[in-house]
Amino acid sequence: MAILSVLQYPDPLLRRKAKPVVDINDEIKAIVADMYETMEVEHGVGLAATQVGITWRIFVMDVSNTRDQRICAINPEILSREGTQQDEEGCLSVGHGLGVYDKVQRAAKVRLRALDLDGNVFELDADKLMAACIQHEVDHLNGILFIDHLSRLKQERIRKKIEKHHNRL
Ligand code: NI
Repeated sequence: MAILSVLQYPDPLLRRKAKPVVDINDEIKAIVADMYETMEVEHGVGLAATQVGITWRIFVMDVSNTRDQRICAINPEILSREGTQQDEEGCLSVGHGLGVYDKVQRAAKVRLRALDLDGNVFELDADKLMAACIQHEVDHLNGILFIDHLSRLKQERIRKKIEKHHNRL
């Protein structure tokens, strides 16, 4: 297993749209194992393949406090969305460690359909943090970042904050 490096905004590779996985082979399984490890080390609740420069439609998440409820979603689809919620989000790819968080409006409940690592289809009803996380990660696979959901002004502020930090390095 290996810890993968997480692409950082404004890396254009974060804007690529990921392709469906056609065969869950050993290579895909190895990628997922590395993604789990990377998510743990970086203290993320979710990680999409796009963030580590891999353009397969895969994300991993663990929204539990105990860090023992890992979910891997391959070729995820959001079947339905219900209601709205607004909660603080951050991202391992957007000024991670710089305190970049903002409130994002999302559906309050979603139904997810995906393949697991054995290639079996599963469906999952999620709300609260898990629902937000699923929407955030599926966005990543479509090249969308959480800041895209914010006002222009807020996006500009975040961009400047990250730029300022990089100039100091
Ligand atoms: Ni993210």
